Amino acid sequence: MEEKIRQLTERVESSVLSCADMRTLNDLKVGVLGKSGELTAILRNIKDLPPEQKPAAGKIVNEARVKLEKIFAERGKALEEKELNEKLASEKIDITIDKNVLKGGLHPLNIVRNKIVDFFVSLGFIVADSPEIEKNYYNFEALNIPEDHPAREIQDTFFVTKDICLRSQTSTGQIRMMEKVKPPIKMISPGRVYRSDNPDATHSPMFHQIEGLVVDKNITMCDLKGILELFAKEIFGESTKIRFRPSYFPFTEPSIEVDATCSHCHGAGCRVCKGTGWIEILGAGIVNRNVLKNCSIDPDVYTGFAFGAGMDRITNIFHGITDARVPFENDVRFLKQFN
Ligand code: PHE
Repeated sequence: MEEKIRQLTERVESSVLSCADMRTLNDLKVGVLGKSGELTAILRNIKDLPPEQKPAAGKIVNEARVKLEKIFAERGKALEEKELNEKLASEKIDITIDKNVLKGGLHPLNIVRNKIVDFFVSLGFIVADSPEIEKNYYNFEALNIPEDHPAREIQDTFFVTKDICLRSQTSTGQIRMMEKVKPPIKMISPGRVYRSDNPDATHSPMFHQIEGLVVDKNITMCDLKGILELFAKEIFGESTKIRFRPSYFPFTEPSIEVDATCSHCHGAGCRVCKGTGWIEILGAGIVNRNVLKNCSIDPDVYTGFAFGAGMDRITNIFHGITDARVPFENDVRFLKQFN
């Protein structure tokens, strides 16, 4: 028996070395140490030996088992390492190879939106979202736009049902905010708005606005002017000036429209500002008392200002884009220029 075991060990030792992968090694192991393996068979035969020979025989078989297990484990470890290295080599990625891959980038509108949002956040404004599909109440009534106001006409607003529309202005966000949060309020709300216009160089049925709202005690037109001056300088450059023109919005009283000096000609007059030196950037005003009342805010205690800017307009002026349709066409040749 001893001789048999010696031969077996020798044979296994050399076959283990020639095993090239884990599968063959495992098969070999099962054939020797498994339930019906060769060494297991020898171990079983011990029970037929005379009792005095059994302990010595058992010892020999066990020593052989320990030795063989060690041989299998060592070879297994070496093979595992080899297989891992082969796998790593075959899956190697050359991270320097991206030279000719077209990289994505931000849309020019998003670049400008991020800039505007960052500016107001730095002044302590919070950013609020509000629904694009909206109840008429938020788009009109609560904003002091009465039933017979022309902005309600079917040709201006897309209606989903009699009571629900696609919001035509982000001013809806003012109401949503004031219903939830009591003053002091400092928020901006960027988003899409919809109007039933045919697309041309200056119109689009979908465009982007950013609303601003500040409500607190003693808020005046001076606060509005200060913030908008900073805003215009931030977006169009340090030398930018702004001017206020009287205007009308049902939800602000008094209402103004705000122009900034043209960032392309600095006031001299050019193609972008149509020769006037000024470009209209937003509508604004002091929040109408009725709007505060609609949101259960006491207009004798609190005042506020609001503004709404067309972000597409600002983006197009900023980049000198003269056709409002182009940024929505997703032409990569156009989009590539901004990144
Ligand atoms: N909602 C107005 C518009 O769409 C802009 C505006 C917002 C004006 C807030 C005044 C105050 O034209």
